[in-house]
Amino acid sequence: MKASYFEHHGGPEVLIYGDQPDPVPSPGEAIIDIHAASVNAADAKVRAGGAYGEIETFPYILGRDFSGVVASLGEGASDFTVGDEVFGVCEVGQEGTYAEKIAMNQALLSVKPDSLPHIDAACLALPGLTAIISLEETLKLQPGESILIQGGGGGVAGFAIELAKHIGAHVITTCSARNIDYVRGLGADEVINYTTQDFTEIVTNCDAVFETVGGEVTQKSFDVLKPGGRLAAIASGVQAPPSPRDDVESLRPAVGRDRKYMERIIELYEAGVVHVPPITVYSLADAAAASAKSESRHLTGKLAFQVR
Ligand SMILES: NC(=O)c1ccc[n+]([C@@H]2O[C@H](COP(=O)([O-])OP(=O)(O)OC[C@H]3O[C@@H](n4cnc5c(N)ncnc54)[C@H](OP(=O)(O)O)[C@@H]3O)[C@@H](O)[C@H]2O)c1
Repeated sequence: MKASYFEHHGGPEVLIYGDQPDPVPSPGEAIIDIHAASVNAADAKVRAGGAYGEIETFPYILGRDFSGVVASLGEGASDFTVGDEVFGVCEVGQEGTYAEKIAMNQALLSVKPDSLPHIDAACLALPGLTAIISLEETLKLQPGESILIQGGGGGVAGFAIELAKHIGAHVITTCSARNIDYVRGLGADEVINYTTQDFTEIVTNCDAVFETVGGEVTQKSFDVLKPGGRLAAIASGVQAPPSPRDDVESLRPAVGRDRKYMERIIELYEAGVVHVPPITVYSLADAAAASAKSESRHLTGKLAFQVR
């Protein structure tokens, strides 16, 4: 199969487009012919190595979510039949969707509706799972609460804005000038241009923060919470960030994988609650360009590969 892979850590230029062995299914796995895969911010961090961790076995194929067609089934994998259109997110610790094929635990796959193109399904998968777990399970966001969603122009945050509005929350978000109309279109009630305004001078007394940017934005975000408020951070490592206040809660969503999250994404999509974000489409051979764009951390919606 063709894949985009790398032989050592480094910048986007280490990504090579070439041949890799076809995957072989273990018991309980399905082989998927990948039609589309999305680019997630974590991919560039894995590629770069360093503080994010070192890969021990090369060549290494990035990529965590995908949509495609079941090509064959391992022993005991009876939930699907060859030809089914499915989408999903790899197990925690597994990657490899920047490729024409992948072996996946069938328990994590979900049926893709015919009406949803593969590339759209791939772009909803990991962002949707992350936003659903963060808002519904971690923050337990309630109707009438206020939430600051940091980084509204991004993949996860965009899904989160629509979900938070559906829950009935008052949504404040941050983005740069070119994303203001986009996040308003998603339903944000208040938009702060972080390049010209300091959100800590505008936002106060929030019930919740969903923090997707990282760095000093995470630490400053604690300032906007009311006593008893809670902050969920996904861009500050695998632990909840240390809180400078003892009257608020700092949380790290446990972003596990399960078919039920893919089914929830489809439920929300078919109900018109969430929409497919703007997608910039690349070929697998252009993975270096996609990775460089992702690493810039300034984009709107999603980057994705049309694989076939
Ligand atoms: N399993 C997990 O725990 C999990 C899952 C998914 C994602 N994540 C993490 O969550 C983070 C977000 O992921 P993603 O894929 O949604 O990212 P993304 O799509 O790459 O989002 C980048 C967005 O961040 C915005 N941004 C950059 N600097 C900002 C600032 N100072 N203030 C406000 N917005 C800013 C950019 O907006 P402008 O273009 O307007 O600047 C851009 O739209 C990443 O760190 C990722 O690794 C974790």
